[in-house]
Amino acid sequence: MIDLKPDRALVAGLSKGVEAILEVPGDKSISHRVIILGSLAEGKSLVSNMSLSRDNMATIAAFRKLGINIKKQNLTGDGKDFAIYGAGLYGLKEPESIINTANSGTLTRLLAGILAGNNFFSVLSGDKYLNRRPMKRVIEPLSLMGAKISGRGSGSYPPVAINGGKLKSIYYEVPVPSAQVKSCIMLAALYAEGNTVIYEKKATRDHTENLLKLQGCPVIQETPAGGDSLITVKDKSGLSLKPFETAIPGDFSSAAFFIALGILLKDSDITVKNVLLNEKRAGMLKVLKMMGADIGVNVTGETPERVGNIRVRYSGLKGIAVPSELVSDMIDEFPIFSVIASFAEGKTLVSGAGELRVKESDRIKTAVFNLSRIGVAIKEFEDGFEINGNPDLINSKSGAAVLNSFGDHRIAMSMIIMGLALKYRKIEIRDIKCINTSFPEFFDTVSGLTGIARAR
Ligand code: S3P
Repeated sequence: MIDLKPDRALVAGLSKGVEAILEVPGDKSISHRVIILGSLAEGKSLVSNMSLSRDNMATIAAFRKLGINIKKQNLTGDGKDFAIYGAGLYGLKEPESIINTANSGTLTRLLAGILAGNNFFSVLSGDKYLNRRPMKRVIEPLSLMGAKISGRGSGSYPPVAINGGKLKSIYYEVPVPSAQVKSCIMLAALYAEGNTVIYEKKATRDHTENLLKLQGCPVIQETPAGGDSLITVKDKSGLSLKPFETAIPGDFSSAAFFIALGILLKDSDITVKNVLLNEKRAGMLKVLKMMGADIGVNVTGETPERVGNIRVRYSGLKGIAVPSELVSDMIDEFPIFSVIASFAEGKTLVSGAGELRVKESDRIKTAVFNLSRIGVAIKEFEDGFEINGNPDLINSKSGAAVLNSFGDHRIAMSMIIMGLALKYRKIEIRDIKCINTSFPEFFDTVSGLTGIARAR
């Protein structure tokens, strides 16, 4: 049972398992890229199942401000169809005021790459959380490409100011595992002469590559050794990006909350249909299987992205050390993974995950704060955490706890799932409006599951 108050949720644990078949809204990362690259295409793109999250609405608003016509359509009747009237690589207009990038690191960093190559002045600024997130990681490579770009704190944080102009191509080794940095450089490369080559020590999500290829852009992906990757955006003289028609798959990061619920609650059997299964996103499935989870995956489509159905059933789990090569493939799932690990038998160790400290919140600190309030044995490290899990936590009766999202949507939803899993407890989660950042339909989806009532 979830009792929703103005900006907090009171969650009472569920007394029985959940059997359900459900879908989650369109993927946030892909929705951003579809809006961005649809705007740069020559002509009209049609998109269905767009994410209506606050982050993606900020991307639509940003491109409208840059002069792009983006209109709601009524193709399927679910309010998630859009037409984007792309104006070509050089069709953007100088914005008359600051572009509000809200809570979105993806929007801020990808847009910086595009604006660096456009011959006008622009400023990007977001909410108080976004404006604390590191921007040097994009300002540095863009400056190497010849961009005139600066930011608050000697180029460390937003607001970011850009005087766009001519760019040159570079070879760049991305120092942190970040698809946002890689994508920013790839988008700037569309405005640079010659071949731009990006090296990633560990390949990250490749949605930008996949969509650019679909649009006829010469992008080459190579994997020279183990998990590393070399991306070349080839010389693009005379290039125009083709418009496209696409249906956005369900967001794996949103599905992850229901995967957790299915695994943790006795007698559960949950299928999430039409979910993005891109290898660089769905790493948590591999880790959960290693821990003993009962998960079945049925792939239903491959291009431009792998899609399918995921079925999970209640499973007793054993703690593990998460393999370092899988960390970036599940980077957004550590908040919910920390909840799952709390119920696994024995120790689960997460290391090599220092990037968690610079997400929408410091996700190591916020997980430690909340889980230790519940009574979970969790230790904090600079680059991760260790949880000594306990399957019996589900039956714990040690009373109420007040948790906090710290303005981070994934922490808020993860802790609500924690509250639903704790059979005999009442958990309060504060600061939950942030859930709209990625999943405005979250409470409706939860209340749609068999046997879960939601009070207003
Ligand atoms: C994203 C990349 C990741 C991820 C974020 C979305 C993207 O960030 O955490 O939620 O859409 O490219 P980093 O690039 O900072 O790892």
